[in-house]
Amino acid sequence: MRQQIARLTEQLLTLGGQDQSAPDVVKELQTQFELEFVDLPRESGLSEVQPRGRSRYGALLGDGDESAKPLEIHGQSIRNLYGILELQCIGRASSHMACSAANESSSRGRPAMTCGRRTLLALFFGLIITVSPSAHAGFPERPITLIVPFGPGGPADTFARIIGERMSQSLGQPIIIENVAGAGGTTGITRAAQAKPDGYTIAIGHMGTHGSAPATHPNLKYDPIRDFAPIGLVAAAAIVVIARKEFPADTFQEFVAYVNAHQDKVTEAHGGVGSVSHTTCALLQWIMGTNTARVAYRGTGESMKDLVAGQVDFGCDQIVNVVPQVQAGSIKALAIASAERSPALKDVPTATEAGVPKFRVSAWQALFAPKNTPPEVVAALNDALDTALDDRHTRGRLMELGSVIPDKVDRSPAALQALVQSEVARWIFVFRGISH
Ligand code: MLT
Repeated sequence: MRQQIARLTEQLLTLGGQDQSAPDVVKELQTQFELEFVDLPRESGLSEVQPRGRSRYGALLGDGDESAKPLEIHGQSIRNLYGILELQCIGRASSHMACSAANESSSRGRPAMTCGRRTLLALFFGLIITVSPSAHAGFPERPITLIVPFGPGGPADTFARIIGERMSQSLGQPIIIENVAGAGGTTGITRAAQAKPDGYTIAIGHMGTHGSAPATHPNLKYDPIRDFAPIGLVAAAAIVVIARKEFPADTFQEFVAYVNAHQDKVTEAHGGVGSVSHTTCALLQWIMGTNTARVAYRGTGESMKDLVAGQVDFGCDQIVNVVPQVQAGSIKALAIASAERSPALKDVPTATEAGVPKFRVSAWQALFAPKNTPPEVVAALNDALDTALDDRHTRGRLMELGSVIPDKVDRSPAALQALVQSEVARWIFVFRGISH
């Protein structure tokens, strides 16, 4: 940052042949304004600055009205910068009008600066002020890759494709889904954490990858709390206990009894260690006091196929992956682990109704960018997600699959960050309890 400021100041100062040292200007900039500096895009010529710069400041200073509303830059009002006077000068200069004496006198009692020096300082402020906020205004300028850390056809893939379709309309660029499966989702999320923080590689993560992963993966290569710029929550998804069609139990009570009685014969299928299906069924087995054989897949898109085919016996999956199969009659849904039944699965009792009140858990899915992704880019992605979640068609598709769309207050990056922090703590506590 300092080199940047120094380089920019040097450039400007050599331009004007002024004698003020760069550090002075830098100090003044920093103490007065706490301005955030950005790499000035090469193409940002003066012409780009003056029209916007002048008109805004012109408005502020043109009429010399001290009571005019101070201009906000990065939350910093800048009424007290005599340099602003310079901008007005610049404005005029660029329209070939000589610097006005008026400007000379209104320098708040400071010795009048030569026009050249003022021009340089004003250029400097103008460039920073007008260019910095929009350094990423053109985002996105090319397609965005959305990493899905599980195989195709599962919950993460379903959510990513539904919101990705609508977000790409708002963003004006395609969102390309890339399935990077493995290790309960941590392989794909590691890839996302290490991607270039420019907004062109983002990922869909969930309660497993950004909640229970530190508890289930001692050698996790990313920190769910520190290594990401949260974009926003996509949806919550209830957990449903499902079994193959021919499984010899028709109610949840019968299921619990059968599994207890046949632990050595029954197999549970899940989407990989640390995945939602793995962690939630680990909790269920702990509550039932059972510990059956488990078969790991690269997601529940894959495990669902084997469940439908009767290759495995049961599992715990997110409702969006279950509803189509239940409607098709290809599997059994025995209980839902939420406080109320889902409108998408009206006939499926809650675990509490079925006598297992302790089994209460639901999953969530959300979008993440690598840490240090510029805040404006994150804001643009959050806006597009927000628009998608308000879009009637997109909402309809998500809700008919039983997912719950977050309220506006829960859709901010900050709300997601808070959720990740509390989930990491919760699952460490749960797994400490389960493993003893
Ligand atoms: C998936 O998308 O396959 C799932 O999210 C896997 C899981 O976490 O259970």
